Parts: sequence; C-alpha cells; structure tokens
Amino acid sequence: MNRSLGRSCAIGLATALAWLFMFPLTNGAARAEGPDLGRTATPEEIDQADRSISPDGRGLPPGRGTALEGKLIYLANCARCHGDEGQGGPADKLVGGIGSLTTPRPIKTVGSYWPYATTLFDYIRRAMPYDRPASLGDDEVYAVSAYVLKLNGIVAEDLELNRKSLPRVEMPNRDGFVASPSLW
Ligand code: HEC
Repeated sequence: MNRSLGRSCAIGLATALAWLFMFPLTNGAARAEGPDLGRTATPEEIDQADRSISPDGRGLPPGRGTALEGKLIYLANCARCHGDEGQGGPADKLVGGIGSLTTPRPIKTVGSYWPYATTLFDYIRRAMPYDRPASLGDDEVYAVSAYVLKLNGIVAEDLELNRKSLPRVEMPNRDGFVASPSLW
C-alpha cells in the first residue's frame, strides 16, 4: 500500500516536472512563429527610419534650399494644415510667440520654443507632411525649413541653408533649456 502510494507520487512528480519543462518550450516555439502580423521591413524603410540629426548638425544630409524656394513647397504641402503664413489652421501654429514664454500666456511655436534649427529639419524630414511623411526630398526640406524660419524672422529669405549653415542658425530660445542631469 505504502509502496504503491510512493510510486504514484513519483509518477505525479515526474509528470509535473515534464510539464514544467515542456511548457516554456512549446510556448517559446509558438512565440517564435509569431502571430503572423505585419512583414519584415525593407532595407529602404529601415534606412528611412534610422536617421537622426543631432543639435550640432551631425547626420545632416547634403542638399540646400532658401526660404524663397521654400515658399512654394510650403504652400503646396503644408499650408492647408498650418496656414498660409504658419499662423495655424487645423494643425499647430508654426510662427510667432517669440518672447512670450515667460509671460502668463506663453505661445509655443517653432520660433518661440524650439532650441535648434537642426531639430526642425529632422522633424519635417521624418514626420511631415503629416499625411505623407518623408515624401519630400532633402533640398525641399532645407527650403521649407528655411521658409518656416523666415516666417519667424529668424533667417533672411535668401540665406541658403545646407549642412554647414543650418547648425549655425541661432534660435531665439536656444538658451531656454537646461541639460538634464546625467542619471549615471
Ligand atoms: C494633413 C495636415 C498636415 C500637413 C499637410 C502638414 N502638417 Fe505639420 N503637423 C500636422 C499635425 C497634426 C501636427 C502635430 C503632430 C503631433 O503633435 O504629433 C504637425 C506638426 C508640425 C510641426 C511641429 C509643431 C510644434 O510646434 O510641435 C511642424 C514644425 C510641422 N508640422 C511642419 C510642417 C511642414 C513644414 C509641413 C509641410 C512640408 C507640414 N507640417 C504639413 C499636420 C500637418
């Protein structure tokens, strides 16, 4: 009686152990196959997403553009959401508010708030136009960035922006941020 109880306990333990080991394995196998959603990104898509431009301009592509050239590109691709003069529409205002950040009614725009012109280029290049992101060529992005900066009175309309001159543009709020203390 005692011996058969012992044997059934041993079988029970062996079964439990087998389950313990098998379960993660079958689970892992199911996960490796995946839920069969989506598809593998193409090299072009990875290249498109894997671009970052630092505040000092590292990562800026070759190319050039002026605000004079950017005006038509802006009117064709941006104005319906941001207004003809960047005054805002269905989407954010891009112009104005300079000097308002320390007042009781701060107005945050590219001109008043953003510390680096290189970030403007990076943002437009990867995210705008909102409904067709990354559809503009690099020359067009330089030109349209120049136009948004010109609407804010930050650059002259004939200043050529390129990988050298863009990082030198001084944004009004460039000293308005503090560096976050290092965690480590
Ligand atoms: C279909 C509408 C639409 C079009 C067209 C469009 N945008 Fe936008 N834009 C948006 C929306 C919506 C946001 C806010 C996105 C968010 O916060 O995630 C935005 C945000 C921005 C911002 C950031 C504003 C801020 O202060 O945070 C900039 C700069 C910008 N757009 C520039 C452009 C430029 C330049 C073009 C043309 C090349 C363009 N947009 C075309 C809808 C649009």
